[in-house]
Amino acid sequence: MVTNTNTETQMRSFKMSDSGRIALVEESKPKPGVGQVLMRVRASSLNARDLFMLDGRYPVPTGRVPLSDGAGVIEEIGPGVTRFKVGDRVVNSFHPTWFGGPQREPGLLYHTDLDGWLREYVVIDQQGLVMMPEHLDFTEAATLPCAAVTAWSAVAGVGAGDTVLIQGTGGVSLFALQLARAAGARVIATTSKETKAERLIELGASDVLNYATMPDWGAQVRALTNGRGADVVVDVGGAGTIAQSIAAVAYRGVISLVGHLAHDTTGMNLLDFSYSGATLRTIGGGSRSDLEDMNRVIEAHQLRPVIDRVFPFLEAPAAVSYMEQGAYFGKVVISH
Ligand SMILES: NC(=O)c1ccc[n+]([C@@H]2O[C@H](COP(=O)([O-])OP(=O)(O)OC[C@H]3O[C@@H](n4cnc5c(N)ncnc54)[C@H](OP(=O)(O)O)[C@@H]3O)[C@@H](O)[C@H]2O)c1
Repeated sequence: MVTNTNTETQMRSFKMSDSGRIALVEESKPKPGVGQVLMRVRASSLNARDLFMLDGRYPVPTGRVPLSDGAGVIEEIGPGVTRFKVGDRVVNSFHPTWFGGPQREPGLLYHTDLDGWLREYVVIDQQGLVMMPEHLDFTEAATLPCAAVTAWSAVAGVGAGDTVLIQGTGGVSLFALQLARAAGARVIATTSKETKAERLIELGASDVLNYATMPDWGAQVRALTNGRGADVVVDVGGAGTIAQSIAAVAYRGVISLVGHLAHDTTGMNLLDFSYSGATLRTIGGGSRSDLEDMNRVIEAHQLRPVIDRVFPFLEAPAAVSYMEQGAYFGKVVISH
């Protein structure tokens, strides 16, 4: 156990250890330089991608601070900072250097290439942050950078009268449900757990299909839409779901390829895909301006992220284990 002895100068962080797990360390509190701010991190959230790095599927250097998402308060500003003042409640952009417009290169990402958010303080360039939606608390805002902005990109262009298909009840899918409903669309949802169906309906899904017991769920989506199919399919399964996503998508619709959670690989029949007339859109999070645009919609509709459970900072390893068990609905968050 690391005890924080001097909070004026010291802070605690979790870092990737040799064993690939996370370990608590005490280190010096950083000072903001030109254009930088010191942020007291008040919450961070976990995403599927963090698990891939924590269990070794993506290599991450020892000593890296994990997690891509954090919310907190500005405690100090460096020279030349104009975007924020002390006391502002802020959340990070998933891509620290993609500010808007088309993304020209993948860029560096938290947890993989840069130290992430599982720490008490972060010094960061002012350009990497935006103001939190006013009605959200820190635990809610900390869910926005990765999952919510990805969902925002995945349902981009959806409007009233459209039908959106979401898959499963993870972070991205539930944000896609909420954002599509806010845009006036109908949402059809899938899940492998009967117990989650009622909660999906409460969140605004019109219909829920069990993808575990109904392998032809694509045809079922078509049946529920008078043969038309879903205008946008948010695919989180990848190779294991893409065939059914093609079966489910409306002629000339869009499949937003977000994730690769389905390991039972069936892959894609290119002829079926051509006949669908659909566009396959790969999603890579979103820019800072996507985050700002989404936050305006979240505020206007007073949307609240679906949080499954909040763990205290020192119990971060337990939060990771809880995620690994996979029994959650929505987001797993750490309160710092
Ligand atoms: N491209 C990007 O920018 C981007 C950004 C964020 C995430 N991702 C990727 O998107 C995926 C989802 O991320 P997340 O953070 O939302 O994950 P998550 O919160 O861990 O989602 C877990 C849920 O996904 C559902 N699921 C698992 N296998 C499924 C399958 N075969 N078919 C349908 N649903 C399935 C399950 O829902 P039920 O329990 O209801 O069955 C499970 O509870 C991951 O692969 C992640 O790496 C990509």
